Amino acid sequence: MLWLLSALSITGGLEMYTIPKYLATCGENLTLKCDVVAEEDLDIKRFYWMEKKDICDWEEKINETDFECESVTNKTTPRIYNFSLTIYNVQPKHKGTYHCKLRAKEGVRNDKTILRVQKCVGNSTASKANGEATCTFKDVFPRPSVVWNRGLENLTHLAKTEVTENAEGLFTAVSTIKLEGPSTPDRYNCSLEMPVENMNNVTVVQAVQSLSFSGGYMVIAHWFGIMLAMVLLMLMV
Ligand SMILES: *[C@@H]1O[C@H](CO)[C@@H](O)[C@H](O)[C@H]1NC(C)=O
Ligand SMILES: *[C@@H]1O[C@H](CO)[C@@H](O)[C@H](O)[C@H]1NC(C)=O
Ligand SMILES: *[C@@H]1O[C@H](CO)[C@@H](O)[C@H](O)[C@H]1NC(C)=O
Ligand SMILES: *[C@@H]1O[C@H](CO)[C@@H](O)[C@H](O)[C@H]1NC(C)=O
Ligand SMILES: *[C@@H]1O[C@H](CO)[C@@H](O)[C@H](O)[C@H]1NC(C)=O
Ligand SMILES: *[C@@H]1O[C@H](CO)[C@@H](O)[C@H](O)[C@H]1NC(C)=O
Repeated sequence: MLWLLSALSITGGLEMYTIPKYLATCGENLTLKCDVVAEEDLDIKRFYWMEKKDICDWEEKINETDFECESVTNKTTPRIYNFSLTIYNVQPKHKGTYHCKLRAKEGVRNDKTILRVQKCVGNSTASKANGEATCTFKDVFPRPSVVWNRGLENLTHLAKTEVTENAEGLFTAVSTIKLEGPSTPDRYNCSLEMPVENMNNVTVVQAVQSLSFSGGYMVIAHWFGIMLAMVLLMLMV
């Protein structure tokens, strides 16, 4: 995690530091920090994290499965108040703007972290029936597309793909293609593609997973890791 702090110079005796923005990968546990540095002990009226609604107050224990807050005071000079918000198993429903707000006798400070989420892929299945092959990719985000090929041949235009979105903002893609002959030795391949933002803040459409069919009705799943994606990107440039 990129955690940039300038020198701890205190203007007005009170400074607040947060990460301005964070791009999370689905499923990760993420800790957002809100650090307050003060010359003196603070007389805190209210200090809290909120997104669309309040999440937790300073030194408050919350009973939620996906959020956890931690409050640590360091009585050094200057005083340090570390107020972190951990989000477990980050999902698209967690994206948003997280505000850290402090109201103290010594002053008022507000700061925020913009959280975005990408690279969600849940269970995938492939099946064959009635001379058709179907690939299903569940719990995907952002909105995906499905590309088909047989060897180097691009068969996407022959496939029918349906993408639906559930209440949690996750997509399911179901894609079907007609097979040529029941025992064709050719290997059909369906790939799940989605926009992925890389480390240089460039968004590229990238295959994140693919499923293969073979004559023996076997299904092989391939995952494309970050390394492979980077190699593909370099080859494309
Ligand atoms: C996230 O935290 C939970 C609970 O501490 C743990 O079980 C899980 O393995 C963690 N996940 C990752 C991706 O680190
Ligand atoms: C936390 O919530 C669960 C269910 O919502 C409840 O059973 C449990 O008693 C709560 N625990 C505390 C410490 O509030
Ligand atoms: C308090 O801050 C000092 C200086 O930054 C550090 O050395 C010390 O470990 C901290 N103590 C706690 C309990 O975090
Ligand atoms: C607490 O805040 C200080 C000041 O921003 C920071 O240097 C330190 O790493 C933080 N400690 C923790 C445990 O986050
Ligand atoms: C994925 O599929 C396996 C086996 O079909 C099942 O046990 C598991 O619960 C599924 N996971 C999710 C997140 O749906
Ligand atoms: C295959 O064709 C589809 C349109 O039919 C296109 O969107 C896709 O980019 C092509 N894929 C490759 C790998 O050429």
